[in-house]
Amino acid sequence: MAETIRQELPDTPLRLALTMPGILHVEKSPSQIDAANALDSFQVNALGPLLLMKHLSQFMPTKSSPAFSVSDDNSEELLKLPSHAVYAMMAARVGSISDNNSGGWYSYRASKASAFQIVKTFDLYLRSRCGERALTVALHPGTVKTDFTKEFWKGREMLEPADSAERLLKVLVEMEPGVKGGRGRCWDWKGEEVVP
Ligand SMILES: NC(=O)c1ccc[n+]([C@@H]2O[C@H](COP(=O)([O-])OP(=O)(O)OC[C@H]3O[C@@H](n4cnc5c(N)ncnc54)[C@H](OP(=O)(O)O)[C@@H]3O)[C@@H](O)[C@H]2O)c1
Repeated sequence: MAETIRQELPDTPLRLALTMPGILHVEKSPSQIDAANALDSFQVNALGPLLLMKHLSQFMPTKSSPAFSVSDDNSEELLKLPSHAVYAMMAARVGSISDNNSGGWYSYRASKASAFQIVKTFDLYLRSRCGERALTVALHPGTVKTDFTKEFWKGREMLEPADSAERLLKVLVEMEPGVKGGRGRCWDWKGEEVVP
C-alpha cells in the first residue's frame, strides 16, 4: 500500500487517515479464552494499527510543509478539513481500563487498550516531527449496527454506521493541534473523551 501511494501520489502529504481494523472473539469467562482466537485479536486489533502507522507515518506532513488550504465559510462542502493532517485510529470504549465495570471480553479489551497507548506514543512522535502540521487521536464510534455487532442487534439500540461516521468526522475535524487541543487521546462520537 505504501509503495502504491508513493508511486501514484509522489510528494503528497497525507491529510486524513482513518485506520479501522477490529475483530471480536467473545469470551465471557477466562475458561473461554482460546489461544488462536486471542492471537487473532491481538494481530488485528493491536498489531494491525501498529503496522499501518509504521507504513503511513512517512506520508505525514513535516514542520516545514505548507498548511493545507481550508475552504471558506461560504463553501458548500460538507466536510471542512482543517489546515493540519489528522491521523485517527479506532479504539473502543471497552479498551479503557478505567471504564471497565462489567469484565469479560478479555482479548478484545486487552488488544483495544493498546490503541490508547499507541495513539499517545505516536502523537509524541508527530509533535516533534510535524509540530502543529499533524496530530493523531483514537476514536470510539458508539455501539454501531455493523457486522461486528450482528449477534447483539436484537433488543439493543444502536447507531447506524452513517450516523456514527458523520459524528466522528465532525469530532475529528474540530481537533486542534495545540497541546490542549485533544491530540494523543481517545474521543467518542459525541466529542467526549474516553479516558484510558
Ligand atoms: N460496531 C461497534 O459497535 C464498535 C464499537 C466500538 C469499536 N468498534 C471498532 O470499530 C472498528 C470498525 O468496526 P465495524 O463496527 O465497522 O465492524 P466491521 O464492519 O466488522 O469492520 C471491521 C474492520 O476490520 C477489518 N478487519 C477485520 N479482520 C481483519 C484482518 N484479519 N486483517 C485486516 N483487517 C481486518 C475489516 O476489513 P475488511 O472490510 O477489509 O474486511 C473492517 O475494516 C473496529 O476497530 C471495531 O473494533 C466498533
